[in-house]
Amino acid sequence: MTKFIAGNWKMNGSFVESKALVEALCDPILSEGVDVCLCPPFVYLATVSQMDKPANFSIGGQDCSYHGGFGAFTGEICAPMLKDAGCDYVILGHSERRQNHCESNAAVARKAEYAHGSGLVTIICVGETLDEREAGLQNSVVILQLMESIPSTASGSNLIIAYEPVWAIGTGKSATISDVEDMHGVIRRFVKEKLDNPDSIRILYGGSVKPENAADILSIENVDGALVGGASLKADQFLAIIAAAK
Ligand code: PGA
Repeated sequence: MTKFIAGNWKMNGSFVESKALVEALCDPILSEGVDVCLCPPFVYLATVSQMDKPANFSIGGQDCSYHGGFGAFTGEICAPMLKDAGCDYVILGHSERRQNHCESNAAVARKAEYAHGSGLVTIICVGETLDEREAGLQNSVVILQLMESIPSTASGSNLIIAYEPVWAIGTGKSATISDVEDMHGVIRRFVKEKLDNPDSIRILYGGSVKPENAADILSIENVDGALVGGASLKADQFLAIIAAAK
């Protein structure tokens, strides 16, 4: 399976910085053979999507509304708007949204259902907190998130799962190779039991992925790519991670 490297820019950048970052990244030779997805803040989506990019580059939103369509929902952005702005993907259920915006598994599933209805591929994030891991609960926490966050509309053609241990996000502390291997095995078994066309579902790792650890992480069985935060904002670092995915 071609590796998938997504850059989650979070709430960073400006028009000028976004354009400069995309220009620096869009090298067809450096990224050849890897699927690259850029996820800028909503206001920069259209700009980034209108720029010239190699065919293996796509655009994703960082979230979408759980209100299905257009209407009186001040401040919300619905899935059809993301599609209209040039997105093919949307990140849903990121731990920063689960924690800071009280997003439940049910809300994530509802958003994903609407996103699938709009033709978007959903990157659904799951992962345990440090307390949960220290209590040995990581597998049951992640399995419950998978059961409740993935809607019945999901299949091999519209679902990517990102395993992001909460304690590894933005901390510089990535999970060990064996932690990642174990959890990705658990997730692979789950999708094989529950979903159609499971072999084409990519399982990404996210949490302090950087040039120094990318090759090791990306060579683990059942790791089909990475969801990168901090290092996706620096062209040289993101390109090094893409190179490690080759
Ligand atoms: P990080 O973020 O790479 O900065 O740890 C990953 C993420 O939040 O998706």
